[in-house]
Amino acid sequence: MRRRFVAANWKMNGSRARNRQLLDALKPPLRSLGGRVDIVVCPSHLHLGETVSALAGSPVRPGAQDLFGLENGAMTGEISASMLVDCGAEFVIVGHSERRGRLGETDAAVAAKFAAARAAGLVPILCVGETRAERDAGNTEAVVLRQLDAVTGEHGIEAMDGAVIAYEPVWAIGSGTAATPEQAQAVHALLRARLREQSGAIADGARILYGGSISAANARELFAQPDIDGGLVGGASLKAEEFTAICAGADS
Ligand code: 13P
Repeated sequence: MRRRFVAANWKMNGSRARNRQLLDALKPPLRSLGGRVDIVVCPSHLHLGETVSALAGSPVRPGAQDLFGLENGAMTGEISASMLVDCGAEFVIVGHSERRGRLGETDAAVAAKFAAARAAGLVPILCVGETRAERDAGNTEAVVLRQLDAVTGEHGIEAMDGAVIAYEPVWAIGSGTAATPEQAQAVHALLRARLREQSGAIADGARILYGGSISAANARELFAQPDIDGGLVGGASLKAEEFTAICAGADS
């Protein structure tokens, strides 16, 4: 039985004061959950250190939203895996569609980031997902498998051992309308089957999250699907009550 996993992606939101408030509101209710779900919060890089301090003694773990795929050196403005580890991050989101789509991040760059995260001991949360146009053209399967294969092809199936994958259909992100549980389950099953072609144990152990307009209202139904192991939550993770309810929905 895989442990459930819910991660908050705060994206480019928050301030030192706002984050403190949000964490103060989240910590007590999340501490009283049943312990069947791993919960991760990913603030901006600037707020990572304070988030790590604020989470001391809490079961909620800190993560980052991105990293650069090389270790140290001349890369102005970028942040390496070892810097994230040094500041207390345990997880890192890799290949989010906002970075792939709006910042031109390629499959190869994502694979390099994934490997750098692993090498430093971070758990990567690898995002895959198709745009509306790709879905309408019948290319959903080809797109998500290409994005997954870009990592396993470069770094081997072992790279996925203990890793987390997030299926985030781009058309559902921030739209207020999530994929249906059936739509999401179909893609999750496809991704797990791809892992299984190379390793049954890694396929069985991989946590595959759904992301895209998750809310307290739809979380339980999504998490009830056999291959949906939790969620990567954007907008709803900025509201303490809503995020707590989503985590509670995964804690069963
Ligand atoms: P929303 O939950 O706001 O749709 O964002 C999802 C997402 O992109 C999480 O990484």
